[in-house]
Amino acid sequence: SVPGPEIRVTKGDVVEAVLRNTDIDEGVTLHWHGFPVPNGDDGVAGITQDAVPPGGQFVYRFLADRPGSFWYHTHQVSHVGVKRGLFGSFVVVDGQPDAEVDIAIPAHRLLLEDTDAAVRDVPPGARVRLRLVNADDNAHGFTVVGTPWRLKEIDGMPVADPEQVSDRLLRLAAGGRYDVVFEMPAAAAGGVRVGVNGRTRLILSGPPVEAVPTVPTALPQLDPLAYGQAPQPPPEPFDRTHLIVLDRQVRVVNRLPQLAYTVNGRAWPDVPPLTVRQGEWVKLTVVNRDRESHPMHPHGHHVLVLSRDGVPASGSPLWMDSFDVLAGETWEVALRADNPGVWAAHCHNLPHAVKGMMLHLLYEGVNSPYHPGGHNHPE
Ligand code: C2O
Ligand code: CU
Repeated sequence: SVPGPEIRVTKGDVVEAVLRNTDIDEGVTLHWHGFPVPNGDDGVAGITQDAVPPGGQFVYRFLADRPGSFWYHTHQVSHVGVKRGLFGSFVVVDGQPDAEVDIAIPAHRLLLEDTDAAVRDVPPGARVRLRLVNADDNAHGFTVVGTPWRLKEIDGMPVADPEQVSDRLLRLAAGGRYDVVFEMPAAAAGGVRVGVNGRTRLILSGPPVEAVPTVPTALPQLDPLAYGQAPQPPPEPFDRTHLIVLDRQVRVVNRLPQLAYTVNGRAWPDVPPLTVRQGEWVKLTVVNRDRESHPMHPHGHHVLVLSRDGVPASGSPLWMDSFDVLAGETWEVALRADNPGVWAAHCHNLPHAVKGMMLHLLYEGVNSPYHPGGHNHPE
């Protein structure tokens, strides 16, 4: 199916996923985007495993020890594979779920092209959780109209004390997830509509599709850096800092000179790794000197957002695994080095990754027997 089936498990489950490649010539892998699996299960060709060739298989096995919304996708020639449907939602529900209705909504151009909105009957008063997943290369604007709501989780991490809002635009970075919760309003209220980029995608207990107006597009945006409420954790004494400058420069990529997407002046696979040592607090300063936005995704870790353009994050402590550094912006984030391995880190606009914007996050003393190049093309 396109996309792949939703994989839904319960916190505490051991997940075993058997990946079989029937006929994808360039090979496939399964990466569990945002879920901090042990390094060997991260599913990145040329970093944590070899690409699975046609006729081959690979078994992933890990403990789903935290609830949240995630997704999975191939990480071999991913800029082609994901675009063509090799992805799906991955949901870890809590043992005591807090919602009676729980729906994951993966958004991707592939899915947005078909026109009809899904309709679902939800009884008034039911507690609803929508898991918005951006599986695409660019940010998407989500709207939930017809009821006030709270943004309960961001990238699978809880928001502390999320205030109730309504009619706000949720701009979701490529690769990111937002969990929106609300109580289903009375039947007379006309239903709740979920829109993506101004188009209604899902109607909960509303009038028939034809009668539904399009969802509004010009709503004020909710800023996750100023949402929720809790004291920011005391600043950590950082054990090291890394500066990551994103840019466009002419570099040789895949043996061709081209206008590459560079990291610190180099293009993958020639970007020096971000080196960390287990137990360290690492400050990453990400500077985007380009005119496009770059949704950055470190594997195996969430980072705590410290500031954007010098303005400290002021809401709930904000842990993200996919954060969109817009043109000209500078983000400071903190990474706790608590999941040893050799990891990928890259821009999740995958056509940017394939043109250079990718690097390794490398724990000192750890190395990988797998290498990019040859049959392995994670980007
Ligand atoms: Cu969605 Cu490198 O991952
Ligand atoms: Cu990018």
